[in-house]
Amino acid sequence: MEIVPLSDAVGAEIRSVDLRETLSVETLDQIEQAFHDYAIVLLRDQDITLEQQKTFALHFGELGSRNRPGPKPNEIDEYGEHVMLVTNVRENGKAIGSLPDGEMTFHADTAYFEFPSKATMLYAMELPSWGGNTLFSNCYAAAEQLPEEMKRRLDGQKAMQVYEYGTTLKTKEKYDRENFPHYAHPVFRKHPATGRSALFVSELMTEEIVGMPKAESDEILGKLFEHQKKAEMVYEHEWKVGDLVMWDNRCTIHARTDFPRDERRMLRRLTIQDTTPVVEGAVPYRQAAAE
Ligand code: SIN
Repeated sequence: MEIVPLSDAVGAEIRSVDLRETLSVETLDQIEQAFHDYAIVLLRDQDITLEQQKTFALHFGELGSRNRPGPKPNEIDEYGEHVMLVTNVRENGKAIGSLPDGEMTFHADTAYFEFPSKATMLYAMELPSWGGNTLFSNCYAAAEQLPEEMKRRLDGQKAMQVYEYGTTLKTKEKYDRENFPHYAHPVFRKHPATGRSALFVSELMTEEIVGMPKAESDEILGKLFEHQKKAEMVYEHEWKVGDLVMWDNRCTIHARTDFPRDERRMLRRLTIQDTTPVVEGAVPYRQAAAE
C-alpha cells in the first residue's frame, strides 16, 4: 500500500487497495492510521457494491442513520436507513436523494447532535462535466494557526450548532430552537484518537458563541469562518467516478462548489456514528505552554 498526501492542507490518497477484496487486519490498521494522520483518505478506481462499501465502513464503527430532522426528501427507500444518495437526479420532478443542487457552505455533518457523525464516506457514481467539487478544511490547522489573542478569547467557550434546511445561506431568522435540533459543543474539540485540538465551528451550522454578546459573537464567528477558508487550510477534491473518500468529521469541515443542475451527479453516502462524547480540547496556546 502506498500513502500519498493530497495537498499540504489535509488528506491522503491510499493506493493499491481494492475494496472488493477482503482486507487484512494489517491493511485496515494502516488505513485507520492514515485516516488519523491525514483526516481524509481517498481510494480511487473502486468498483464496489453497496454491501462492499458497508463492509469497509463497518471497520471504523457502527453505521449512522441517514435520517435527518424535518420533512423527509422523496428518497428511495430500497437502500435502507443507513444509505443517503447525495444526488440531483429527479423522478417525476422530485429529487430521489438528498443535498441535490449546487453550492454548499462549510459544515461538519450532524454537528447539531450531542453525538455528531465520526466520519462520512462518499462513493462517486455519476458526475457532472464540471464543478461539484468537495472542499475540505483542516480544523486542527485552523485551531493552531489562530492569533494568540483569539485563542485566549475562545478558551473554554462553547458554540451553538443548529440544524437548518438551507445548504448555502444561514438565515438566523429561520432558527427555531423549539423545533430544530441544536447542541452546544466546545469551540476547541479534542480528537479522541489523536489527542489534538480542532476548531469545531462552521459557517453553515454555528449560530453563536454561547453566552457572548451577539455583536461580539458575530464578529468572532465571521473571523473564524474566513480563517477556515484560507487556501493553505483547504483541499479541493475534484471527483472521478470510482472515488471513495472518507473524512473525519471531528477535525475537518467540508463544502461543495456549484455544478450544472441539468447534469446528473450521484454519490452514495454512509456515515460512521460516534459513540464517544465530544470533549473539550486544550486550547493550542495552553498545549504549547505545557510542552
Ligand atoms: C455533503 O455535504 O455531505 C455532500 C458533499 C458533496 O456533495 O460533495
